[in-house]
Amino acid sequence: MSRTTLPPRAPGPSVPGIIGRFIFKPRNFIRHLLDLTNQYGDTFLLPLTHPTFFLRNPEDIKYILLSNPLNYHKTGGLTAAADLLGEGLVSSEEPLHGKQRKLMQPMFHKSSIKGFTDVMVDCTNRHLADWKDGETIDLALEMMHLTISIAGLTLFSVDMYREGKSLGIEFATALKLVTRRQMAPPQMHHWLSLDNRYHESLRKIDEAIGKIISDHRNLPEDQRPNDLLAMILASKYEDGSSIPDKQVRDEVITIILAGHETVANHMNWTWYLLGKHPEVLDRMRREWDEALGDRTPAMEDMANLPYTNMVLAESMRLYPPAWTLARRVVEADRLPSGLEVRPGDELLMMQYVSHRNPAYFPDPEKFDPERFSPERRDSIPKYAYFPFGLGPRFCIGEGFAKLEAIILVVMIGRRFDFEQVRSGEAKLEPLITLRPRKGMPVIVHKRG
Ligand code: HEM
Repeated sequence: MSRTTLPPRAPGPSVPGIIGRFIFKPRNFIRHLLDLTNQYGDTFLLPLTHPTFFLRNPEDIKYILLSNPLNYHKTGGLTAAADLLGEGLVSSEEPLHGKQRKLMQPMFHKSSIKGFTDVMVDCTNRHLADWKDGETIDLALEMMHLTISIAGLTLFSVDMYREGKSLGIEFATALKLVTRRQMAPPQMHHWLSLDNRYHESLRKIDEAIGKIISDHRNLPEDQRPNDLLAMILASKYEDGSSIPDKQVRDEVITIILAGHETVANHMNWTWYLLGKHPEVLDRMRREWDEALGDRTPAMEDMANLPYTNMVLAESMRLYPPAWTLARRVVEADRLPSGLEVRPGDELLMMQYVSHRNPAYFPDPEKFDPERFSPERRDSIPKYAYFPFGLGPRFCIGEGFAKLEAIILVVMIGRRFDFEQVRSGEAKLEPLITLRPRKGMPVIVHKRG
């Protein structure tokens, strides 16, 4: 008897029900999953090739991510990107993951991130200087270019969209191919020449990253730039050995990829929401005037911009750039809700859905930054709102991302207004990150 014909362990739609919903309206699948949660409750099962459970109960989520994480491995979505990411921090399992995380953690401490502020500001200034009053830009593309420039410069002192343009483009190509490989069944990859193009792209990336690493290594220590790669190369394991080159390559690529598209999408969705709520933007601008005057924000200012932080938190509630977490069960286990899980089961904990749980977020579709005010923030359980993940695999770049987001939103918001070209609700493209479908065209208005 096949696994999927065993009696169901949780409610959920039948196979014809799934086909009806997903195949005929594939673009809206993230909204289908939200509808299914509203219909079936905190746990439901989709009978796919592996039984796939959708979980929203904060206690189950806490158990999987924090209490018993070793029994729940990274899975599914990452397979398509396996050759690109290698065994970097996002995809590795224990014991490698713990060893690498320990080594890399200091590079993401406040004191290290603070050192990247000037690069973030300079890069943003240069980028914004190109925007002309009245022109139409694709904000999504612009944010991707800006954040990959910041990641490249802070990580290994290469501007991937200026001096090293081809590398930035190659990353974008590889990501696009990863996504297309994810969407197409493996049997179709060869036929669509997805494999050839992907491997060619990987070869170019490997060559370029290899050169950057060897150039760094060949510089005398006192001439090495103060970037993340220098920190990685200088760090040592407990036994005094250095990180092998292949591992450096995997970590560098992983951090560039994890660190740019997420922030870019966070900015896209924030500007989209602010476009619909100009009164929120006005209040943020007043806060910037009072707290900063003419200065650009620095790390120390973050605590003095409470309203801006509330807006960014609410933006990530409605549009979490990492919209789902996926794990595969290693050994049979029982979750706090009573659900029995079996080896090979897939578990999805979707921020997009959890962040709309009416039990904790009344009127969930409403953009309401006040939810994150000091008076109301504590009523939200930690495991119902998790844009940066939770437990030992939580985002190592959270501090980096928050600093970058504040710098970008203040610098852009002081100088520009955006007029959305498309009317109505933006369409979602839930790929590796949650993107706006077909970009986000806006007309740029320079502020006086
Ligand atoms: C708004 C921006 C960001 C969001 C929403 C975000 C979200 C996340 C989430 C949800 C995870 C956990 C994944 C899981 O448990 O399966 C994660 C992990 C990770 N993120 Fe981020 N991230 C952001 C920015 C960044 C930045 C800027 C960097 C690096 C500069 C980064 C590097 C990483 C890495 C390396 C991991 C893997 C950590 C581990 O498994 O130990 N992220 N991120």
